[in-house]
Amino acid sequence: MFNISFPILRPRRLRRNPHIRNAVGESSLEPRNLIMPLFVKEGIDVKEHINAMPNQFRYPVKRLNDIVSILIDSGIHSIILFGIPKHKDEVGSEAYNKNGIVQQAVREVKKNFGEEMIVFTDVCMCQYTVHGHCGIISERRGKFIVDNDETLKYIGKIAVSHAEAGADFVAPSGMMDGMVKTIRSALDNEGFNDVGIMSYSAKYASSFYGPFREAAYSSPQFGDRKSYQMDPRNLREAIREVLLDINEGADILMVKPALPYLDVIRTIKNILPYPLAAYSVSGEYSMVKAAADRGWINEENIVLEMLISMKRAGADLIITYYALDAAKWIEEKHNLF
Ligand code: PBG
Repeated sequence: MFNISFPILRPRRLRRNPHIRNAVGESSLEPRNLIMPLFVKEGIDVKEHINAMPNQFRYPVKRLNDIVSILIDSGIHSIILFGIPKHKDEVGSEAYNKNGIVQQAVREVKKNFGEEMIVFTDVCMCQYTVHGHCGIISERRGKFIVDNDETLKYIGKIAVSHAEAGADFVAPSGMMDGMVKTIRSALDNEGFNDVGIMSYSAKYASSFYGPFREAAYSSPQFGDRKSYQMDPRNLREAIREVLLDINEGADILMVKPALPYLDVIRTIKNILPYPLAAYSVSGEYSMVKAAADRGWINEENIVLEMLISMKRAGADLIITYYALDAAKWIEEKHNLF
């Protein structure tokens, strides 16, 4: 095939101007594929700045409407909600309180926007437990551990409380074995067979979550999350994780973080015919913000390049704190990169 070459072959012909480049562009970035994470905090009246994440906020339920209408006007129809409760305890009971902060937030958004906004909810316990771990703590062999099966007893209840409030998709992020199966059967038992599951299937034990933990007050108070989140060295294990989640009933798979794990995204995309989400996490956001703030990089161009890299790697959906900015930048550029 390639026995002809220069000067017959000139790849630059396809790069000559923006419309030619656009016509042959292999990936595209559109607001419809972006999911905006939002933090909702109990007990506040006005939105709060998040120190480690400039231009991101903790919202009171009654201020959610403002941001949600702005998102819809920008073409973004997906949010993922994270609750920040007033009260924490050993079992994270606010996580499954029918009147908890996330449940209230879901009701508010659904009441005002209905099908215009797809509501995903994070199903986890770390913001809700005093110890900051993503499950129930038990003692085993003289050591405190995050007890998988004990945690599953709560996970189903949390998901059902989100579905009752009107969530379209629940997104379990605790990396407990069997969490998707437990949630699927809990939802089905309660008549929510049309509520979907976006599973944080390949979620790595990553230092890129640092700013989020400040935002959501969810740092583990002892130890780390390496006994449940994945080892950054592993790729084959990510394939096992997504296969398990598919068998357990996941509708959408996820890789998290995104930018340092593009190989994982590509590998999963190549072998599995499922919608795949990439979560570009807080650390990815804050690093760009910090460098942009010093004038060391061009924020807009860097962000669009990062996001298109995730699409090129195979992500169908991207969860990003830059969703709103990106939607504006895409529109301003009329999609001409
Ligand atoms: C909850 C959860 C975390 C993130 C999403 N869901 C934190 C963690 O696992 O410690 C991180 C998101 C981000 O960093 O943007 N388990």
